[in-house]
Amino acid sequence: MILVTGGAGFIGANFVLDWLSLMGEPVVNLDKLTYAGNLENLASIQGDARYTFVQGDIADGGRVRELLAQYRPRAVVNFAAESHVDRSIHGPDDFIQTNIVGTFRLLEAVRVYWGSLAAADRETFRFLHVSTDEVYGSLSASDPAFDETHRYEPNSPYSASKAASDHLVRAYHMTYGLPVLTTNCSNNYGPYHFPEKLIPLMVVNALAGKALPVYGDGQQVRDWLYVKDHCSAIRRVLEAGQVGDVYNVGGWNEMPNIEIVHTICALLDELRPRADGRYYREQISYVADRPGHDRRYAIDARKLEHELGWRPAETFESGIRKTVQWYLDNPQWIDRVQSGAYRDWIRIQYAE
Ligand code: NAD
Ligand code: DAU
Repeated sequence: MILVTGGAGFIGANFVLDWLSLMGEPVVNLDKLTYAGNLENLASIQGDARYTFVQGDIADGGRVRELLAQYRPRAVVNFAAESHVDRSIHGPDDFIQTNIVGTFRLLEAVRVYWGSLAAADRETFRFLHVSTDEVYGSLSASDPAFDETHRYEPNSPYSASKAASDHLVRAYHMTYGLPVLTTNCSNNYGPYHFPEKLIPLMVVNALAGKALPVYGDGQQVRDWLYVKDHCSAIRRVLEAGQVGDVYNVGGWNEMPNIEIVHTICALLDELRPRADGRYYREQISYVADRPGHDRRYAIDARKLEHELGWRPAETFESGIRKTVQWYLDNPQWIDRVQSGAYRDWIRIQYAE
């Protein structure tokens, strides 16, 4: 079996669902259930004998050691993190605690467990750390895309904390020989994406008749990848990645934010036209920019393609249509995640 951390969040939940349906191997999901963790994402596998949920913190070394001893996984896949850049600007503490201290404690527990395995199991064991392209900083319009040798230049408390976690993972390999793999991925989108992030926020605000807040000039570029493609890349790296290596994962799909917002508006005009006959893009509102806002991310995913034969399956056109349709089909999911805590965050972030 494998141990997944943070499996009740956006990418982790998609990964667990796909893992069980495609691989069939049992999975234990350790998740603290912060505001971003949602067991409803995993409702379809509740009661599946191959799936175990444990509520807990990756920073609780004792708890992690117990779980490793009890379930004896052949691999650990670490998704658990605080993941929202804007929240890291308002309050970095949780990011330092989970992304740095939490990753450290998890690594420590895994190192001890790995050291206790029989030689053959030690050989095949893997610790896969899920990281982000944001650790590389920001590109200008003419810069080549980030490859795995790009220097680390994180600009937000979030990306700095993820960079620190990447360094710890690397150090545990170099110092202790822990068989690690790291993936640095670009922006994901798809089902179960929490509506604090650009794409789901635009969909839910548009449907609620609210403003669509675009930061600054809306010309920041992100490289979008459908979440199921990220999950397939992680499975492939786990299966065949070179121990100690880093793999960049991206969608070959760079797009300015304003274009993303226009695409969502056009899809909603087609799929759920406004009752008053007007266009969703009329709801767009330019707001103050994010401090330290990275201008452009772009991933060079050629290593993953050449060495492991991975390419994204979804185009942006098909992926964004599926995603918008998923939100239209799941209004209860939206209602339930928009709890009191969610409303507080929206009030703080979009006060003006
Ligand atoms: P998310 O915020 O949706 O989910 C994070 C999950 O981790 C939640 O279920 C939360 O409850 C859990 N968690 C948080 N702190 C924990 C702790 N201390 N112990 C145990 N569980 C904890 O995040 P996401 O978007 O699914 O991202 C998952 C991972 O992928 C993160 O490491 C993130 O840095 C990375 N990543 C995300 C993207 C993206 O576009 N979303 C892109 C590249 C990499
Ligand atoms: O690149 C990978 C990263 O992508 C992950 O590591 C992060 O966990 C994930 O949150 C994401 O970070 P971003 O900051 O790029 O994603 P976000 O959806 O917050 O913002 C995408 C772009 O849209 C960014 O340029 C900021 C802009 N934006 C965002 C929000 C929430 C707006 O213009 N308005 C908004 O209201």
